[in-house]
Amino acid sequence: MPHHPPRCCLIPVDVPRFHESFGSELRPHLEHAFQSAPPNCAIRALIICNPNNPLGQCYSRAALHECLSFCAARNLHFVSDEIYALSVYSSVDDRVLPPFISALSLDLQETGLGMEKVHTVWSFSKDFGCSGLRLVSLHLNPFHTTETPGAHSS
Ligand SMILES: Cc1ncc(COP(=O)(O)O)c(C=O)c1O
Repeated sequence: MPHHPPRCCLIPVDVPRFHESFGSELRPHLEHAFQSAPPNCAIRALIICNPNNPLGQCYSRAALHECLSFCAARNLHFVSDEIYALSVYSSVDDRVLPPFISALSLDLQETGLGMEKVHTVWSFSKDFGCSGLRLVSLHLNPFHTTETPGAHSS
């Protein structure tokens, strides 16, 4: 069987303290992951899962702004997997947990990231329990391409 080397890789962002994952303290961890990537790995995008799976927690507005500013500074795309967007419940204890904020509702101007670099994913499978219904909403702003639209053969 021929061996094909991987054409992409994922660099996990290690955040040792739980609360730093979802607040404004996220940025140094993003920078550290970016800098510790292997030299032959050109990082193209930051991907988050908001609301988070498996933790269930949402990213605060401050954390999302840090993500977007980081992407602007590093010329990266920002992909927000929002498949659990409608499955957020209020907290039963005293802690005030951030509500869900879609990447599409953020003020990009403040962060310097262009709209063409912000993408979201949502599908029926989680929020409506319809995993058999293979229907997805991808809000993908076009990656810059030199291809002519509609030029793909089917
Ligand atoms: C965070 C997240 N995104 C996307 C998916 C893909 O969902 P599906 O292919 O079932 O629509 C899953 C499935 O477990 C998930 O947990």
